[in-house]
Amino acid sequence: MIQLISAGKRFGEKLLFEGADWQINTGDRIGLVGANGSGKTTLFHLIMGLLQPEAGEIEVFGRRCRAEADFRLVREQVGLLFQDPDDQLFCPTVAEDVAFGPLNLGLPRAEVRAIVRDTLERLGLAGFEERVTFKLSGGEKRLVSLATVLAMRPRIMLLDEPTAGLDEPTTERIVELLRSPGLSYLIISHDRDFLARTVETTYHLEKGLISRVETPPGPCLSAGQKA
Ligand SMILES: Nc1ncnc2c1ncn2[C@@H]1O[C@H](COP(=O)(O)OP(=O)(O)OP(=O)(O)O)[C@@H](O)[C@H]1O
Ligand SMILES: [Mg+2]
Repeated sequence: MIQLISAGKRFGEKLLFEGADWQINTGDRIGLVGANGSGKTTLFHLIMGLLQPEAGEIEVFGRRCRAEADFRLVREQVGLLFQDPDDQLFCPTVAEDVAFGPLNLGLPRAEVRAIVRDTLERLGLAGFEERVTFKLSGGEKRLVSLATVLAMRPRIMLLDEPTAGLDEPTTERIVELLRSPGLSYLIISHDRDFLARTVETTYHLEKGLISRVETPPGPCLSAGQKA
């Protein structure tokens, strides 16, 4: 689904990656950990084409992505949850924000209304349709951001710290949701317990290198939950 081939990225003096190779396949449930500032968010933004690599290649769904036009399909089918919900939400109301993506895909209004209602309900946000987005609490904003991603029914999700600032029952709801069959995702998180319950493989980003973390599998996913 996603392949980085010798990808390189630096900001001024700061080298984030050099010759980074990474391959993500259908059905993968992957965690990405690393220190603050190690480049995790940058890696997601490279995959989405929001930043350009200085070296190497990015392939998504088997297609080499270089120009802005190449990333159009990526942005329709890869769901990025931004680390900061204020980067994700830009409409006056919750319903408009969640409907924005599906409407852009050309889905009929009635179907979009049903998607909005169902997605909000799945996240425990029933009745939030007319709430004013910028007045939501931090946790509510993160959940609505997740709703905007799920509403697109992406082939794969890139979730940048999905549970930061969420209370325990809400985190639990997200764990349950992620454990449903057929999903593919990458999760950046500093919460090892959350990762142990939602991912099968974890990678560590440090000094520009992406390496697999060898840990015994957590109380994780049964074979039936794999795609
Ligand atoms: N547009 C930019 N211009 C210059 N430097 C940047 C830019 N974006 C990110 N950086 C720097 O690159 C480094 C990596 O940032 P990034 O946000 O990818 O880290 P991260 O691993 O996601 O950290 P955190 O765990 O704190 O979210 C940081 O030192 C950051 O200051
Ligand atoms: Mg980050």
